[in-house]
Amino acid sequence: MEEVEVLIVGAGPAGLATAACLTQFCIPFVILERENCSASLWRNRTYDRLKIHLAKEFCELPHMSYPVDAPTYIPKNTFIKYLDDYIECFDIQPRYLTVVESATYDIDGKCWSVIARDKVKCRIVNYMAKFLVVASGENSAEHIPTVPGLETFPGVVIHSSSYKSGITYCGRNVLVIGSGNSGMEIAYDLASHDANTSIVVRSPIHVMTKELIRLGMTLVRYLPMKMVDDLLVMVSNFKFGDLSRHGITRPKKGPFVLKSEIGRSAVIDVGTVGLIKERKIKVQGRITKIKGKTIEFQGGNEGSFDAIVFATGYKSTSNMWLKNGEDMLNSEGLPKKKFPNHWKGGNGVYCVGLARMGLLGIAIDAKNIASDIRDSMSD
Ligand SMILES: Cc1cc2nc3c(=O)[nH]c(=O)nc-3n(C[C@H](O)[C@H](O)[C@H](O)COP(=O)(O)OP(=O)(O)OC[C@H]3O[C@@H](n4cnc5c(N)ncnc54)[C@H](O)[C@@H]3O)c2cc1C
Ligand SMILES: *[C@@H]1O[C@H](CO)[C@@H](O)[C@H](O)[C@H]1NC(C)=O
Ligand SMILES: *[C@@H]1O[C@H](CO)[C@@H](O)[C@H](O)[C@H]1NC(C)=O
Ligand SMILES: *[C@@H]1O[C@H](CO)[C@@H](O)[C@H](O)[C@H]1NC(C)=O
Repeated sequence: MEEVEVLIVGAGPAGLATAACLTQFCIPFVILERENCSASLWRNRTYDRLKIHLAKEFCELPHMSYPVDAPTYIPKNTFIKYLDDYIECFDIQPRYLTVVESATYDIDGKCWSVIARDKVKCRIVNYMAKFLVVASGENSAEHIPTVPGLETFPGVVIHSSSYKSGITYCGRNVLVIGSGNSGMEIAYDLASHDANTSIVVRSPIHVMTKELIRLGMTLVRYLPMKMVDDLLVMVSNFKFGDLSRHGITRPKKGPFVLKSEIGRSAVIDVGTVGLIKERKIKVQGRITKIKGKTIEFQGGNEGSFDAIVFATGYKSTSNMWLKNGEDMLNSEGLPKKKFPNHWKGGNGVYCVGLARMGLLGIAIDAKNIASDIRDSMSD
């Protein structure tokens, strides 16, 4: 049994940012990570061509800037290098291959009792922590919806987190399911590698450019959100034209309103729309049925496919191990309160990076949490 002041679960950007902020206040902590490296999502579960799609000024972790010569849109490997430098700079030492299995609040001892499994030594480790920080991510497990007949499909079925590049799909018929940023970019990557690519677009989406989103993120600090949304929609309609005849419609609510209300991000176009207009990427509606290689879509279309990529998102898994955190997280392991009031629960439990606000949200949460812990320690 080890007693610690603060226990952080997860060594992704959120856990690392919190660790750095605690270090600034000289507050001792232990950080546990289930994988054998930090930021395993970025190192092992992202596709090759990924760049951070928000401008670098919105993607810094606390207390360390990107190098001045870094490009505006940071490539994946530059971001990983930044995280490695961050770990070194703040001398963060995560305990790797340690999976948190449960965290329970001990009312008598007034502390969190945490049970973790050391994957190397195959033994259980116990911690007692005054403060507990949930930094296990919104992307902790893959989400794959149930599709009737999927079990009859003889081809390759993967989740976007296992997709690396289109190079192995040249000449194949590939279906991407899901039209968020990952799905749209993977479809582009597949088509650029000469895969015969189709994408399922089930609901309305806001297609934007990265420059427009950058402009919007700046303007929204000074102007009403609705006004920024109207401007962005007007400019992007002008840029992309009416996409409804290609199967893509816009939501009624604007991109920033949707982000703040339900956490849904606009799609930042990487060239996918151009390929859709050229019909190099075919847009399909919802899947009705899979029968062997044949996939049927709403509206009566069907096609024969060799592979399916599910770009259908992720789920949080914190609700599987966090007990007594009901005041902070819902049954899906996500915050009950809206950003920016979501990060604190009762009895010294906090969450960082769970409000669908990306790296910017992580930086804000981490600073709030460290200051709050400092204040309650001096009480
Ligand atoms: C493909 C992709 C692209 C993205 N691009 C951007 C972008 O451009 N800009 C932006 O702002 N955001 C982006 N995001 C969103 C978000 O900023 C990143 O997902 C970021 O990595 C989240 O950091 P995190 O630390 O909260 O979660 P993660 O990076 O998922 O880290 C959580 C860590 O906790 C560990 N863990 C989980 N459960 C346990 C447990 N029980 N015990 C121990 N350890 C555990 C995991 O192994 C993981 O290492 C992107 C997300 C994805 C998936
Ligand atoms: C991490 O784990 C993977 C898969 O289990 C293994 O291939 C790799 O060598 C390990 N890496 C390190 C740095 O220990
Ligand atoms: C993740 O990637 C890193 C660096 O690329 C590597 O060292 C590590 O072994 C990988 N871990 C797993 C579990 O694959
Ligand atoms: C490409 O995919 C579409 C949609 O499934 C299909 O109609 C078409 O026949 C495919 N083309 C080739 C060359 O296989």
